[in-house]
Amino acid sequence: QDHELQEILIFTSSLAREAGAIILEGSRAILGTSGKIDEKKNSVDLVTEWDVKVEEFVRAEIKKKYPAFGFIGEESYSSGQRPPLTDDPTYCVDPIDGTTNFVHGFPFVCISLGLIYKKRPTIGVIYNPFLDQLYTGLTGHGSHLTQRNQTHRLPLHAPGPLKSLHDALIAVEWGSDRSRDVMDLKSQSFVRLAGNPEDIRGGQMAHSLRSVGSAALNFALVASGSLDLYWEIGCWPWDVCAGVVIAQEAGGFVSGASSAPHDGDVDENILTGRKYIVVRALPSSVDESSTDGQRR
Ligand code: IPD
Repeated sequence: QDHELQEILIFTSSLAREAGAIILEGSRAILGTSGKIDEKKNSVDLVTEWDVKVEEFVRAEIKKKYPAFGFIGEESYSSGQRPPLTDDPTYCVDPIDGTTNFVHGFPFVCISLGLIYKKRPTIGVIYNPFLDQLYTGLTGHGSHLTQRNQTHRLPLHAPGPLKSLHDALIAVEWGSDRSRDVMDLKSQSFVRLAGNPEDIRGGQMAHSLRSVGSAALNFALVASGSLDLYWEIGCWPWDVCAGVVIAQEAGGFVSGASSAPHDGDVDENILTGRKYIVVRALPSSVDESSTDGQRR
């Protein structure tokens, strides 16, 4: 079974690279203004014909190779295909994570391919074709990064426990809900994280905040130690499934809303876990039983 999972990881990695070539083709078309951009919920929730094309390509390739596997994809889910999650191996796919970046030519864009097996995220592959960076993870076998022009994989180790938010580089995201209440709450959190504690009660003054614009890459960046923490409310399973494996296998700590796909107890509610915190590791003083996350 381990051997099979290794083979699936190899297949998934090469699928990610092929999909990456389509993403780059799409980027040339979009920036050359021949691409079509649509709005989903509102004017900041974007989808392009390339999101759909990449998902269809990936889905067809998976079907050819593994006809019995399930498939949950961002774009097919939006168009109403919402299969129940079973114990069968199931791919959970965001064809273009960072669609807004994609539309603007901001090079933090990736395909995120997760495999859920027996309701646990088990394989994670995240590929950024603009930077040619491939992040992979397989439960029990660590996670790795293959960089541009390199053939060998570097093992990923998130640095040791974060002692304080004070020293941290933290990723937050703006999300697509820009209603006043949500924006008030988010901006208050941003201020508490980064504002001067002398002026703000409970303030931490982290080194700084970043908005990378791709949930999956935020997970990967915590796994590789470039970010100390990522916090977001509003994620979907395809944003996080691959990242959960990669971050946890690098020694990171992932906490999500209960029933989210981080802790092995994924049920049909996999599609309702929306809130995520990923941090490089928990300080040993934190009582794990008080969280719904998992530390390796
Ligand atoms: C979104 C991006 C964004 C994050 C959202 C995601 P999409 O995915 O990852 O950074 O804030 O939560 O839904 O729409 O680009 O695939």
